[in-house]
Amino acid sequence: MAQLRNKQVILKDYVSGFPKESDMNIVDSTITLKLPQGSNDVLLKNLYLSCDPFMRNLMNKPQGPPNPLSYTPQSVIAGFGVSKVLESGDPNYKECDLVWGFSKWEEYSLVPSTQILFKIEHTDVPLSYYTGILGMPGLTAYAGFFELGSPKKGENVFVSAASGAVGQLVGQFAKLTGCYVVGSAGSKDKVNLLKNKFGFDGGFNYKEEPDLNAALKRHFPEGIDIYFENVGGKTLDAVLPNMRVHGRIPACGMISQYNLTQPEGVTNLAHVVYKRIRMEGFNTADFYHLYPKFLDFILPHIREGKIVYVEDIVEGLENGPAALIGLYGGRNVGKQVVVVAHE
Ligand SMILES: NC(=O)c1ccc[n+]([C@@H]2O[C@H](COP(=O)([O-])OP(=O)(O)OC[C@H]3O[C@@H](n4cnc5c(N)ncnc54)[C@H](OP(=O)(O)O)[C@@H]3O)[C@@H](O)[C@H]2O)c1
Repeated sequence: MAQLRNKQVILKDYVSGFPKESDMNIVDSTITLKLPQGSNDVLLKNLYLSCDPFMRNLMNKPQGPPNPLSYTPQSVIAGFGVSKVLESGDPNYKECDLVWGFSKWEEYSLVPSTQILFKIEHTDVPLSYYTGILGMPGLTAYAGFFELGSPKKGENVFVSAASGAVGQLVGQFAKLTGCYVVGSAGSKDKVNLLKNKFGFDGGFNYKEEPDLNAALKRHFPEGIDIYFENVGGKTLDAVLPNMRVHGRIPACGMISQYNLTQPEGVTNLAHVVYKRIRMEGFNTADFYHLYPKFLDFILPHIREGKIVYVEDIVEGLENGPAALIGLYGGRNVGKQVVVVAHE
């Protein structure tokens, strides 16, 4: 049986502090493109891989209860991706099916079928969208904003990391709901995108604001009803006193903390009590049951151009490590995708 080259991204060792490109290696392995006899697994050709902030947390040396997704040194890293089925031992999948789910950072993967989350049924939209707007980040924005945020027309919404994979959608969902929405992002160009492409009412570059509290007061003189939390740290601390009574904070992520060996403290937490704020963390995996409903909602908006999506696409698995670590310095503009192969 012919063996094929299988390029892979390997984590060299556990990471402490900010990750570097050199924490990962590109290696050439080999694979036989044939399912082992009697196997229930699925053989995939990976097409698009998704760079997601949580992948940094999987590089940590495990402490406390084991996370089954954690990376092991000298092994291939894994994450969300879009793949084509080459062969399947699970009758739910067949050759040429397009799927998205959890795959490995390599050209071909043999995975248990439970790692495939959804079959891709709609291909009139870019396939790469299933790493972003039609994949995990899209469902994150939808569940976080609508289920946890409970938005009402006319409310004031603030979004951090607002031009990213999740944030750009939260802002657009807020506008569709009739809210006033302002986002923070890390460059002038990103702030322009918020206002000119995604329809935010305002935005600011948090890196150039000497006083985040003053920036929030300028944009929200009457306070914030919903803060969609993507970054944590100083931004969260500045937001808390600017929340309105009965405000909601869907706590989606805290990327500013992921690379710190000593997490930053939050000093304004008492406002959760004073303002009767509901702050709730969530994991998108708890909302996969909403995916069909989410697709029914979002696909017509995409097709009618009422929701737009910006992707930052790099070609080639060998450029994956740089793209992934770029998330932690804000190098990506929009959803960061790595193309492994075109269908
Ligand atoms: N709960 C869940 O299930 C779930 C699912 C998906 C994502 N998330 C979380 O949602 C957040 C956004 O994810 P995403 O996929 O949409 O990523 P993203 O926004 O596409 O990329 C990450 C962005 O974070 C910003 N950033 C990096 N370091 C920062 C820092 N120290 N302070 C402030 N901003 C920083 C950068 O944008 P700037 O240039 O604007 O700084 C960067 O572009 C992350 O916290 C992620 O962990 C959670």
